[in-house]
Amino acid sequence: MTNDRVDLTASQQRVQTQQEIEQAITEIFAPEDDGLRNALATARAAGLPPIQISPVQGKFLQLLARAANARKILEIGSLAGYSGIWLARALPHEGRLISLEIDPKHAMIIRNSFANAGVGDRTEVRVGKALDLLPHLTSEAPFDLVFIDADKSPYPQYLDWAIRLSRPGSIIVADNCIRGGKALRGSANEQEESTAGLLEYNRRASSDPRLTSLALAVDAGHTDGFTISVVSSLDA
Ligand code: SAH
Ligand code: DHB
Ligand code: MG
Repeated sequence: MTNDRVDLTASQQRVQTQQEIEQAITEIFAPEDDGLRNALATARAAGLPPIQISPVQGKFLQLLARAANARKILEIGSLAGYSGIWLARALPHEGRLISLEIDPKHAMIIRNSFANAGVGDRTEVRVGKALDLLPHLTSEAPFDLVFIDADKSPYPQYLDWAIRLSRPGSIIVADNCIRGGKALRGSANEQEESTAGLLEYNRRASSDPRLTSLALAVDAGHTDGFTISVVSSLDA
């Protein structure tokens, strides 16, 4: 043990070890290239909050998209295009990522970042409230993967739409489904609206007979993460 560690408490050491492991996994399995780094730098310069997924989460999305042999991906909530770049890079050249984003200022940044990362040909940003845009996607369904990461209170409605726009075998991933445990346990009436939406999302994802689901603490600090669902049968 090195000297600068002797004064650390056991819990500080655990966090430090977790950070070192996360860093090593990121360097080995999920390094960012210029396209991803540029998207983050542009977002920072534009004053957007740094609430994008982690590199490990990005690589995980990519892995799921490849496992599903995804040709069509839908993203709900795009911010500056960081998660979208990870997802679009899992697509073949003729594949398509449709990203829904409410903020027109973000949309400009997203389109630039997609082009800069070399995925401009496979991506499309649609600007508006997701619940208004989703009904127009029926003719473009089914999507092989849906990534939900917009405002939290309508998450249960986003899940309904994701299932509607899916086929058996489609994967649905939702970010921020742990929230330090608040999205897993708690009485809905004493929660903020956003937490209530996440609780209900997990309740439905875990009990809907059409879904096989699991919540995984995969964010950088292991206190938040994805709920992942596979659509198994649409007539259950
Ligand atoms: N997926 C991104 C982070 C998304 S942050 C990444 O990991 O890189 C959430 C985004 O959802 C923000 O850009 C916000 O403007 C957008 N958003 C919030 N409410 C929305 C709504 N009702 N419809 C569509 N987008 C919404
Ligand atoms: C927030 C939103 C997110 O999607 C996220 O991953 C982290 C934070 C937020 O609105 O604060
Ligand atoms: Mg998120």
